[in-house]
Amino acid sequence: SESLPIRIGVVTVSDRASRGEYEDLGGPAIVAYLNDVLASDFETVARVIPDDTATISETLKQLCDGEQCCLVVTTGGTGPAKRDVTPEATEAVCEKMMPGFGELMRKVSLEKVPTAILSRQTAGIRGSCLIVNLPGKPKAIAECLDAVFPAIPYCIDLID
Ligand code: MTE
Repeated sequence: SESLPIRIGVVTVSDRASRGEYEDLGGPAIVAYLNDVLASDFETVARVIPDDTATISETLKQLCDGEQCCLVVTTGGTGPAKRDVTPEATEAVCEKMMPGFGELMRKVSLEKVPTAILSRQTAGIRGSCLIVNLPGKPKAIAECLDAVFPAIPYCIDLID
């Protein structure tokens, strides 16, 4: 059978970016990273949404179930502020959490910025989709993905 390109969801979680008050730099930075590291053909499905638990959870469900993404990468909403709820919204839609992703990303981030401890970023599995949270700072994207990317294709194989 003919194999279709894999689909990857890219979700920017930010009240201000979703209102158009500033440009979404995080989503494009994730797409650029994927273009750099992935040898095979892939499609991205991008969304820019506010810091709202229900909206984040609904978007993750759409991308995993409806759009059939094998990987969804989020950026933003992982910190301690009142509106930061991305980890909770991720956990709400996952059957299984993968705490090693957050642990490793915080560890490598701490070598760059002392504020890395403020990110509650996590990862989990919904069906055959791996969801990975990244902090909102565009420069955090490559810093974090460099650490965990080697394990991602294997993880996706295991949940297929
Ligand atoms: N991790 C990396 N690699 N680089 C960064 O600049 N910023 C930190 C942290 N993790 C940062 C990082 C900061 S300042 C915060 S507040 C938290 O991520 C949460 O960010 P978020 O709420 O935008 O997700």
